[in-house]
Parts: sequence; C-alpha cells; structure tokens
Amino acid sequence: MTHEIVVIPGDGIGQEVTPAAVRVLEFLDLAFEFHEADAGDHVLAETGEALPEETYELAASTDATLFGAAGETAADVILPLRTAVDSFVNVRPATAYPGVDALRPETDLVFLRENTEGVYSGHEDRLSDDLSTLTRVVTSSASERLAEFACEFVEDGGYDGFHVAHKANVMRETDGRFRDSVVSVAEERGVETEEVLMDAFATHVCLDPTQFDVVVCPNLAGDVLSDLAAGLVGGLGMLPSANIGPDRGLFEPVHGSAPDIAGEGVANPAATIVSAAMMLEYLGHDDEGQRIRDAVEAVLEDGPRTPDLGGDASTEDVTDAVIERL
Ligand code: NAI
Ligand code: MG
Repeated sequence: MTHEIVVIPGDGIGQEVTPAAVRVLEFLDLAFEFHEADAGDHVLAETGEALPEETYELAASTDATLFGAAGETAADVILPLRTAVDSFVNVRPATAYPGVDALRPETDLVFLRENTEGVYSGHEDRLSDDLSTLTRVVTSSASERLAEFACEFVEDGGYDGFHVAHKANVMRETDGRFRDSVVSVAEERGVETEEVLMDAFATHVCLDPTQFDVVVCPNLAGDVLSDLAAGLVGGLGMLPSANIGPDRGLFEPVHGSAPDIAGEGVANPAATIVSAAMMLEYLGHDDEGQRIRDAVEAVLEDGPRTPDLGGDASTEDVTDAVIERL
C-alpha cells in the first residue's frame, strides 16, 4: 500500500533538515508518495497568509505529514496543522545518545503533552491599555483521551506506569480537572501513576532524570519541560516529536527555524530524521523506523557531527553518513 506523505519544510533550517529526512526516507525505498507543500513566514510575505488552505487540506486528508519549522508565524502554522490532524497528543522523547556531550547522559524519557487546549486555545484578550487576559481551557474529554493514549503507550512500551505533571495545588479547577481525569482513566485501566508538581519536576529532572520515564503534561508545561529536557540531552537539534490524531499524524522536530544558523547548512538533522522514524513506526514500518534510529545513533556516536554537538560537519555530511549506515 502506498502512503501519501505531505512534506512541509517551512522556514529557516526547516528548509535544510526536512529535505535531509526525506533523503533518508527515499533511500529506504518504501512505497511512499511525497507531496511538498508550503507554509511559513516566506509564504506570508508572498501571499498574505502563512498557512495556505491547500496545505491545511493536504495535512487534514493525508496519513502523515512531515513538518520542518516555521519562524515568526509558528503559531499560525503549527497550531492549525495540529488541528488539521486532530492531534490530541504530542509525543516528545528526550534521549541522550552515546557519544553526544549531554549535560545528563543518563536521560531517557518521553513527554506526552496534551496538544489541543490549556493556555494554547487562543482565548486571549486585550481588555484595556493596562489589562490583558488569557482563558485556560481544560476538558475532561481531552484529558481522558490523552490518558487513554498514555496507558496504551506504557503498556506497549513495557513501562511500569507514568508521571502526571501538573500544578493543581494552584490551578485547582483546571489542573485539578486534568489530574483527576488522567488519574481516574489510569486507575480504571490498572496503570500506575505518580503525581509531580510541574515546577518541582523541572528541578528533579535536572538533578536526576532517571527518576522519570513517561511524563504526561498539560500543553504549556509539556512545551516548556521538553525544551528543558532538550538542554539535558545535547540541545534542540536532538528532540523529535509526533503529533498523533485518531486517523493521521504530523511529525516534526521540536526546534524552530533557528534564524541564527539558517542558510549555513550546519543544522543538526537528527531531530527531524528521528521524527521521520517515528512517522515510519506510526505507519506500521517498525523495522525501518528502528533501522533509521540505529543509523542515527551510530552516526551520533562516531561522527560526523554538526557544530551544535561540537563537530564541524554540515547537515549534508551527517545525512550522507546516516544513509551510508543504512
Ligand atoms: P529555535 O529552536 O529555532 O532555536 C533555538 C536555538 O537552538 C538556536 O540557537 C538554534 O540555533 C538552536 N537550534 C535549534 N535547532 C537546531 C538544530 N537542528 N541544529 C542546531 N542548532 C539548533 O528557537 P527560537 O530561536 O526560540 O525561535 C526561532 C524561530 O523559530 C522563532 O521565529 C519561533 O517563532 C520559531 N519556532 C518555531 C517552532 C515550530 O515551527 N514548531 C518551534 C519553536 C520556535
Ligand atoms: Mg516549543
């Protein structure tokens, strides 16, 4: 069966790391048909809208989308794209690979981030010259859907259970609902949970990341804490992610368009290539996904490496090396 894959490179280093991941996928010679689509700052400048209707429709109707990064238009591009795939969870693994000079080389954890609501629901208002407000949205249904996914994730992955990060001691109503919904689903399914306050989590994970395997978080907490974990494993060039919906998925590195290095050809493609591996696994090609992971791991260990990891190789050198390993 041929899978249709939408590829949206976007802005900045998205234009460099996305083609790198596509080269790796093409090398595997699976039955994929790639459709390139446009979005981002450069599209806004040309057409007046950052996310063309055509791109949205493609993502909303295809099995899987591989996205690079957007720049200043990120919120106008990635949030609607996540809606297009009805993605209720953002899976963000943070793994320190051998050979990478990581702050915490023992880090190996996965964030399961709520992906539809919280403070990212878009209910922001400017009420006066002095006052702006934001409405935080938490529903039992979204929290339970996330919890169901988390339970399956720990069962399939052989984990003992999961942590729930929240701040229900202060945001009693919203995070209280989040925590209660997640914990009650897990209890029903016989999956163990442990609660952790999200601010305390930030300290604990820096001091000893081995305390954590799977961490279920509200939207903003998952965004911030996973970037924090990126700092533990060698930087943003290392973190892949998968936005999973009931029928389709959107796969993207956690990082943005990195204007400070864009155009130099030195972006680390690892996050995007491993995001492509997550896409293969989502599409049922587990063996090929694992082959890509193994190849990336071997290259990270032996080099060549990009400057963010202390090397002097280009994006293309690293991609060539991954393909050679394959
Ligand atoms: P960023 O992730 O683009 O960059 C932060 C730092 O990490 C920079 O020093 C950058 O050089 C480095 N970095 C990131 N990815 C790297 C890679 N693959 N290889 C080597 N170094 C890498 O975040 P920043 O600077 O906060 O935002 C830049 C732009 O990206 C902004 O316009 C922002 O709106 C956008 N952005 C887009 C996202 C998306 O499309 N999903 C996510 C985050 C930011
Ligand atoms: Mg982020």
